[in-house]
Amino acid sequence: MPYVGGVSARIELDRLRKVYPAGPRGGQTVAVDDLSLVVEPGEVLALVGPSGCGKSTTLRMINRLIEPSGGRVLLDDVDTAGLDPVTLRRGIGYVIQDVGLLPHRTVEANVATVPRLLGWDRARTRARVADVLDLVGLPAGTYGRRYPHQLSGGERQRVGVARALATDPAVLLLDEPFGAVDPEFRRHLQAEVAAILGDVGSTVVLVTHDLDEAVRLGDRIAVLSRGGHLEQVADPLTVLARPATARVRDFVGDGAALRMVSPSGGPAVVVVRDDPDGADADDAAADTGPGATVLAARDALAALRAADRLGG
Ligand SMILES: Nc1ncnc2c1ncn2[C@@H]1O[C@H](COP(=O)(O)OP(=O)(O)OP(=O)(O)O)[C@@H](O)[C@H]1O
Ligand SMILES: [Mg+2]
Repeated sequence: MPYVGGVSARIELDRLRKVYPAGPRGGQTVAVDDLSLVVEPGEVLALVGPSGCGKSTTLRMINRLIEPSGGRVLLDDVDTAGLDPVTLRRGIGYVIQDVGLLPHRTVEANVATVPRLLGWDRARTRARVADVLDLVGLPAGTYGRRYPHQLSGGERQRVGVARALATDPAVLLLDEPFGAVDPEFRRHLQAEVAAILGDVGSTVVLVTHDLDEAVRLGDRIAVLSRGGHLEQVADPLTVLARPATARVRDFVGDGAALRMVSPSGGPAVVVVRDDPDGADADDAAADTGPGATVLAARDALAALRAADRLGG
């Protein structure tokens, strides 16, 4: 099993393309067109963009749930087209957009799925399952024996995250993993998951609609537009402060060249687009009410992340 157990892999998308064939009612859809992107070992890449722009399709081509129409996916320079897809998927943690828990299995059994397939012994599996369930706030004593239909939507999603983390996979694909979790608990989960990701060292592709989530968790953010077209890939600050195209600017929100991000319970932080002469920061200070801290973009991001680490 090459891709399991506390190592990370380099992911390379090389001119990746997916065309869904025409159906009875419509023409073909070019979901992803000529996408080239490298995710370095241990990096968290956040994939953002409007609905239907090809994020889930891209993710599912990485673990071959969808076969590309063109181009290649390389893991540590190995073309995944030549690997056995089932073996490949066992080595890749994956949280799908609508969770996909096995309905007739308990929470514990769902989380234990991949460890079992990998032949872990009972004791190791039990211990690990208890650990990851604790991590997502669903202690095994209370939730372990329940079935998915006995959970709320947000709880099911957390089980999905626990399941993906269970084996410390080298590659973790997260498709809207916290979409159904309320904002406050989502913040908590993001901080927990960020800490785990730091420890485990998995290479992560995180699909999210939530730009704040991308900023919090992503080492870099890739912004896609319709048809899986890559508009920009850069560190979060650069994307916020210097959107490369009009579409990125639309996506991150333009307005007064400001973006508000407020860590829960912490001070409001105003990210100001990088501006050499500081004029934006002065304008922002004038526009912002008392209690908000106006910082240059770089400092704002550092403050945000520090607040997360403190559980802010
Ligand atoms: N099985 C399919 N057959 C035909 N077209 C599809 C199929 N799956 C997705 N598509 C189309 O491909 C495009 C990209 O879909 P995809 O699910 O990758 O978008 P997404 O970026 O994940 O969107 P969302 O943010 O809404 O989840 C969309 O236009 C979608 O309608
Ligand atoms: Mg999707």
